[in-house]
Amino acid sequence: VPSLRLALRAHPEREARAFVTDVCYGALRWRITLEGALAARLEAPERLPNRVRDVLLAGAYERLVRGTPDHAAVHAWVEAVNRGPPRERPLAGLVNAVLRRVDLADVQGDAALSLPPFLASRFRVLLGADDAARAAHGMRQPAPLWLTASDPERAAASLAAQGARARPGPVPGSLAVQAPLPLERLAAFEHGLVQPQNPASLAVVAACAAGPGERTLDLCGGNGVKAAALAARGAEVTSVEIDPEKVEAAKRNLRRLGVAVTHRVADLRTLPAGIDPAASVLLDAPCSGTGTLRAHPEITLRLSEAALAELTRLQAALLDTAAGLTAPGGLLVYAVCSLTPEEGPEQVEAFVNRHPEFEPVKPNLPLPARDVGPGAVIVPLEGLDGFFVAALRRAADT
Ligand SMILES: C[S@@+](CC[C@H](N)C(=O)[O-])C[C@H]1O[C@@H](n2cnc3c(N)ncnc32)[C@H](O)[C@@H]1O
Repeated sequence: VPSLRLALRAHPEREARAFVTDVCYGALRWRITLEGALAARLEAPERLPNRVRDVLLAGAYERLVRGTPDHAAVHAWVEAVNRGPPRERPLAGLVNAVLRRVDLADVQGDAALSLPPFLASRFRVLLGADDAARAAHGMRQPAPLWLTASDPERAAASLAAQGARARPGPVPGSLAVQAPLPLERLAAFEHGLVQPQNPASLAVVAACAAGPGERTLDLCGGNGVKAAALAARGAEVTSVEIDPEKVEAAKRNLRRLGVAVTHRVADLRTLPAGIDPAASVLLDAPCSGTGTLRAHPEITLRLSEAALAELTRLQAALLDTAAGLTAPGGLLVYAVCSLTPEEGPEQVEAFVNRHPEFEPVKPNLPLPARDVGPGAVIVPLEGLDGFFVAALRRAADT
């Protein structure tokens, strides 16, 4: 991301920015597939300098995925090696030969999904082979800029005045936007009419029992994106988050949006003092983020099975706290933007075994979702992020 920012600063023109962003994100989204294709044409890819490997990845993305004609795609990347450090220049011929011959047909199995095997197998357990493949392919496609607007008509008019095109998204209040300017330079953003948010994230908010005036706990509130949507529905929101910097960022953003939320900094692995249980609770837990590979393709570079196990333990502790903060008869919504069984259905099944006072009910999602065990999965197709969502009703007499 820092290198992308530098590159964007060097290329302020709109088309160049779009190209650089697409090559960076696209090459990362397709990384495992493209590395498989390149490995089939290289004797020892691991011995190449990092920069040359990056050039090969970007060139393969441009030729095989963006479909730039062979000579143009190859020439520019060979030139990038020729203009690079002198000791790498002798590799220009190799880069030329490999980029001309690299072929997606050389890649089969999990690598063709651009997923590491431990994730591909988990996607299959959660969704079945067909939907797992559809989800993986879906997350390789770019998405529009999704904005949430409390007054979509007013927001669309403001966007149109600056030459942006907005069409309604799949959830009420959500807009798919194509803008000629960066988000921060749109008046609709500056004046708090819109908030960047994937429609799947907005759908999670809709699953909460947070009507006007209803006290709602937003646990693990982060930068306050879901808190803002809860407050826009009229809920009286208390947002609790461990990271004070995120709380400050949330406060700034909520001021821009003109919505009021009460903030608390606390570690929710244990029950925080001074917060009364509420009838409406959202736990948007820290997770592997494997439903957001479209926007965060770098996740596959750093996620390990050990990290996944650690996150699963943290989520269980946070769910126990959330149980203690849900009033009798109340609704606890648990959400993760992940597509692994242990963070989703298995996590909730274990929770219900520990807390028989809670019963899973069908989450009230305004989007098509797939029932999976005690919850539902939003499959990451057509620009959506993937989420697992469970709604847990606490018995009134407990
Ligand atoms: C998925 S993000 C939340 C996103 C947020 N709800 C939103 O919509 O903008 C999870 C958040 O949990 C926070 N977190 C992690 N461990 C925590 C803990 N022990 N107690 C409270 N918050 C925690 C992280 O700092 C992160 O902001």
